[in-house]
Amino acid sequence: MIKIAFVCLGNICRSPMAEFILKDIAKKSGKDNRFHIESRATSTEEIFNGIGNPIYPPAQNVLKNHNIAFDAREATQVSKNDYEKFDYFICMDSSNLNDTLRIFGADPENKVLKLMDFTDKKGDVSDPWFTRDFDKAYSDIRLGCEKLFEKLLNE
Ligand code: 4NP
Repeated sequence: MIKIAFVCLGNICRSPMAEFILKDIAKKSGKDNRFHIESRATSTEEIFNGIGNPIYPPAQNVLKNHNIAFDAREATQVSKNDYEKFDYFICMDSSNLNDTLRIFGADPENKVLKLMDFTDKKGDVSDPWFTRDFDKAYSDIRLGCEKLFEKLLNE
């Protein structure tokens, strides 16, 4: 079982999109039993009194437009305890990566990686919370997840 946590700032846009896109890719390949996939926030921006917000409605709409199934979920902050629970923490941008490393303190097993580094594009998935371009975020995340999935299948 390969355990993956996607990580972004709020855990209401990019990392939940990545979670459900990768779940969809895994399911359609018939190999979903080999994967455990979740997502996390670096911040508490979308968590109030211990209760996390759902996927941001415009991100839900992009998933719906692409026929990607998703569950009701709550934004959850990544914690030090998560380090042992997952094999990979796939971050959406460089600040997510730095913040995640700061939360863990160290990354002795090189688990903390950036999604677009699996593609030829490299760089960051731009944050649609600020750009309002949810389609652009979707296409970057989709490409990243396809390349990530190919890589994981070869493990
Ligand atoms: P995400 O987008 O990191 O892709 O979930 C954001 C959502 C909320 C905020 C920032 C980014 N926020 O500051 O509340």
